[in-house]
Amino acid sequence: MRVLFIGDVVGSMGREMITEYVPRLKKKYRPQVTIVNGENAASGRGITEKIYKKLLQDGVDVVTMGNHTWDNRNIFEFIDDAKKMVRPANFPEGTPGQGMVFVKVNQVELAVINMQARSFMTDLDDPFRKMQALVAEARKRTPIIFVDFHGETTSEKQAMGWFLDGEVSAVVGTHTHVQTNDARILPKGTAYLTDVGMTGPYDGILGMRRDVIIEKFLTAMPKRFEVVEEGRAILCGCLLEIDDATGKAKDIQLIQINDDRPFME
Ligand SMILES: [Fe+2]
Ligand SMILES: [Fe+2]
Repeated sequence: MRVLFIGDVVGSMGREMITEYVPRLKKKYRPQVTIVNGENAASGRGITEKIYKKLLQDGVDVVTMGNHTWDNRNIFEFIDDAKKMVRPANFPEGTPGQGMVFVKVNQVELAVINMQARSFMTDLDDPFRKMQALVAEARKRTPIIFVDFHGETTSEKQAMGWFLDGEVSAVVGTHTHVQTNDARILPKGTAYLTDVGMTGPYDGILGMRRDVIIEKFLTAMPKRFEVVEEGRAILCGCLLEIDDATGKAKDIQLIQINDDRPFME
């Protein structure tokens, strides 16, 4: 199974990149499943039902989330009915939505799990123990398991990768919005990438307006971040090749599209 994963879609520019490039990436790489992190899709903060549906319309199969899941109140109107959306599985018991979803491709199933790290982030349930439980549940149905591990620190993400080596097909990080250059297959067959990077404004700071962020650093005063709405854009993702029978990863390849690295059909 080939899986395309695209990192944090930020605002309208990120959404436009999805509309433009998901069909072209699918034509070029022929993935069976396309997964996109949508936690910043609505003006950098959360997601709406309209945006969720548009992502699916553009060819996305599963939308993963993160710490910004609840930022747009519209989420509460549809998350329980959103069968193709996963929010961090380690939110407290009883939280709306789901942390794992299964996608069927021909006769093969892929489990998609979203999990949130804890270092420098909200103190959710232990993501390691929660992963153990979810992997056991998923493996009753399929050995093909994709994990979007939404976290701030490289150490916690590496720890999760090694913790799950041989247990899942891939552990790919999101949240920092900066693509890391450490894509690899761990010894027992798990594809690992610390962070896949973001999709949206190329000339902002993590997708936000530079002037506001720089002013915040200069003054140490609170500032309301504003998403960049025009200018150059970037798309960050990765492509995974997974063995259907064993669930082990065979390849992981980085994808980046921007003015410095133009897309080749
Ligand atoms: Fe994000
Ligand atoms: Fe995040």
